[in-house]
Amino acid sequence: MHELDEAVLAVRQYTDARPEIGLILGSGLSALADLVKNPVTIETATIPGYPTSTVEGHVGRLVFGTIGSTSVVFVQGRLHVYEGHEVQHSTFPVRLLSQLGVSKLILTNAAGGIHPEFSPGTLMWITDHINWTHKNPLIGSEIVPKTRYEYGTSCYDEAWTNKAQQVATSLGIATSKGTYLWTLGPSYETKAEIRAFKLLGADAVGMSTVPEAIQARSLGMRVLGLSTITNFAAGLGNAELNHQEVLDVGRGVQADLERLILSLLKG
Ligand code: HPA
Repeated sequence: MHELDEAVLAVRQYTDARPEIGLILGSGLSALADLVKNPVTIETATIPGYPTSTVEGHVGRLVFGTIGSTSVVFVQGRLHVYEGHEVQHSTFPVRLLSQLGVSKLILTNAAGGIHPEFSPGTLMWITDHINWTHKNPLIGSEIVPKTRYEYGTSCYDEAWTNKAQQVATSLGIATSKGTYLWTLGPSYETKAEIRAFKLLGADAVGMSTVPEAIQARSLGMRVLGLSTITNFAAGLGNAELNHQEVLDVGRGVQADLERLILSLLKG
């Protein structure tokens, strides 16, 4: 049996939903799943082949339901490569969502701000990325070699991003656009690394999202990426970085994020 077939069968014991839009929730953003109407919640631990998350503050759940007339699924408990997952395993949820019918994927994360105007609380649409880890979820995959190389050149859907930014503006929520740089973690960056990343053209830095975006594109999904800047990246602010700050700022912008996500998903 294909690695995903058993997982799909397990999900199908709970729901026949074929969600159009999937949303992967980043650090501190798990509560966004409460927006879903008529939720069907599945613990990922009960899904064969689904890797287990180990990070504090993360749960492992898929929440199916509707927002307006749109069928959606939220993934709570992102899998990070720094937890010890192979990069190919970390994108298992994306392959599963694709099998379940998802054609549009929203990737959210918490990130450190590098761009001088990005203070904590800034919302940034990801328009491009830098893969500092050089790890790629397509390594060893069965996709046609001819097209393998295309994924990554334009992961983030420009039209969807522009529309999403307009929606934010119409709600009175200011957003910015920028380039996200993926580091492996789990340690935060050094000040010297952040100076280097700035020279490379990065506006924000974080430990997720890029492998999921590459995987999603390889499956033909449209991708929207949204970073919540939770802190000044190392050396750019006065305070030392800590995980609690990341979670707290995430909670602080939650009301805006909720309104934004609701509007985006309603269509
Ligand atoms: N660096 C890496 N990942 C992060 C940061 C950061 O400063 N903030 C939130 N996630």
